[in-house]
Amino acid sequence: MNRTLGVCYYPEHWPETQWAEDAARMAALGLTFVRIGEFAWSRLEPKRGAYDFDWLKRSIDTLHAAGLKVVLGTPTATPPKWLVDEMPDMLPVGADGLVRKFGSRRHYDFSHDGFLEECKRITLALAKAFGAHPGVAAWQTDNEYDCHNTTLSYSPAAREGFQAWLQQKYQSPEALNRAWGNVFWSMEVSDFGEIELPNLTVTEANPAHMMDFRRYASDRVVRFNRAQSDIIRAHSPSRDVIHNFMGRTLAFDHFAVGADLDISSWDSYPLGFLEDRSDQNDEWKQKFARTGDPDFQAFHHDLYRATSKGRWWVMEQQPGPVNWAPHNPAPRDGMVRLWSWEAFAHGAETVSYFRWRQAPFAQEQMHAGLLRPDSIEAEGFFEAAQVAAELRRLDADLDAYPGKADVAIVFDYPSAWAWEIQPQGREFDYFRLVFDFYLSLRRLGLSVDIIPASAPQLDGYRLVVIPGLFSWSADLIAAIRAHQGHLLIGPRSGSKTSDFAIPESLPPALPADVLNIRVTRIETLRADTPVQVSEGGALQFWREFIEIGSSAETILCADDGVSALVKQGNLHYLGGWPDQALMHGILLKLANAACLLTKDLDDGVRLRRHGNHVFAFNYGATSFDLATLGWTGTPLLGELVLEPSGVAITAVSGAGY
Ligand code: GAL
Repeated sequence: MNRTLGVCYYPEHWPETQWAEDAARMAALGLTFVRIGEFAWSRLEPKRGAYDFDWLKRSIDTLHAAGLKVVLGTPTATPPKWLVDEMPDMLPVGADGLVRKFGSRRHYDFSHDGFLEECKRITLALAKAFGAHPGVAAWQTDNEYDCHNTTLSYSPAAREGFQAWLQQKYQSPEALNRAWGNVFWSMEVSDFGEIELPNLTVTEANPAHMMDFRRYASDRVVRFNRAQSDIIRAHSPSRDVIHNFMGRTLAFDHFAVGADLDISSWDSYPLGFLEDRSDQNDEWKQKFARTGDPDFQAFHHDLYRATSKGRWWVMEQQPGPVNWAPHNPAPRDGMVRLWSWEAFAHGAETVSYFRWRQAPFAQEQMHAGLLRPDSIEAEGFFEAAQVAAELRRLDADLDAYPGKADVAIVFDYPSAWAWEIQPQGREFDYFRLVFDFYLSLRRLGLSVDIIPASAPQLDGYRLVVIPGLFSWSADLIAAIRAHQGHLLIGPRSGSKTSDFAIPESLPPALPADVLNIRVTRIETLRADTPVQVSEGGALQFWREFIEIGSSAETILCADDGVSALVKQGNLHYLGGWPDQALMHGILLKLANAACLLTKDLDDGVRLRRHGNHVFAFNYGATSFDLATLGWTGTPLLGELVLEPSGVAITAVSGAGY
């Protein structure tokens, strides 16, 4: 595979006289791709129907002439003022009932059919104009769905769309009343037109109502993306269709959107994410303030690799300080390079930096680029140049694809919606739960694949972990039954029917031949009242009381005598949320049982297997001797003593590393 680098560029921000020089410098830096156009609607169509594509053509020509390949964005994340004035009801409405106004970006409602038609129109015009341009190699649909919390909108268009969606799903109001349990609090309706959106209610709305609204809203994002990808495919053959997802964004089903993409990409801002989106405490945030969390990027690499069946990019890589987190430190020297290599270790085809030159104006003037506003190279530029040089030397030696990991985590967006709707205890957050398992596996030196609950291919994994799954599908139960390797299920998995009710047989509601237990009661715990488990560690936040049937046995008990971990055949069930010590103990036991070689890694050192190589990364503040992990000889890249921000690659053979 030809691993490449790219950059995000806004020709409309700079005088045309500067374009050729910019393009030449990009090419000289060793970049291959340039993403442009995704916010340029007001320049592409200043008035309805008055297309002005000439400047875009000249900019694509210029980039192409310099040997660069363009990723052309559809500009639908920034509808122009004239369009908003024509159809003001296309604006999204917040849960507080207030209209979210024009003046920044993403000011549209996924449910608005009129706006969708406008998006199709501009996409078609662009696809016809540039679909066959030799400089256009790929397309990006819109920009970061859900950025600024824009999946959910409580507009009249959403209400109408939701009612039609419900009618199709339930066919009759009686069926809906039954499924939702609307007899409770006299919530019954006699017509689909009576159904309101689940906001601004006096107290909580029915969870089944909220869950269907989340499903509906996710479907609208899929519909929106598909409308664009269909047009692009029809008019720009053999170009890849890409979307750029975000970090810790769960509001829509990325597997469903990914099914319409050739390549999933995501926007990786490690320092912003640590400050803004991490559950870790201040001590951790301080420790990794200039490097980012050692597992957060990796998790998303593994997640998004799965959303489009293997092909994926980083579309935007943080190149220096950003502008949007509570604090915006500069990356430690070497981290921009490390983040780039880490993406390649997880199988990325391309890493593209955001952005070429820092803009001296408007909202993101404090956001670094590869160039400073005065066009002098910023720190990140030199690290990108180093990666480009290293790729030239090493790319051919590395396998095209990372291959299958030994361990998999099943991931499911509807479960995230469900537990957001009904956390039951403040800390119960699906992402946090899954991420806890992920980082614990990574501390054992294991590489992890993420697989969708909606298409559960468990074959070949020695250990599969299914935490916090809302509801079983028949496919997943069949896959669990057929699985030859080890499985760890729970907590809270299978605790609801798809209608958001407690299953008749009580959770986890697996057939008795698979797992013969019943969760008869649960409790949630304050963070300062964990339940100790004498073998080490504790259950925190969430704990279950399990009744054990024949063929299941208790493996671990909490100190109050309640079963914490039970086993039946190759399947373990965990009745609570383990802290890191307990999690480590359990995963280590299961990894051993699955004959996986484990390590005991520092907080800051991480490994990733990629084909016949292993990559090592040092997020920590002190150097780390890879010989202690059994590495010998001279690594392909880096040294055996891995400096802070260091990257090393070594060849391995066989299963373990
Ligand atoms: C992303 C977005 C970019 C830019 C960037 C700043 O979320 O796609 O347009 O705003 O953040 O970090």
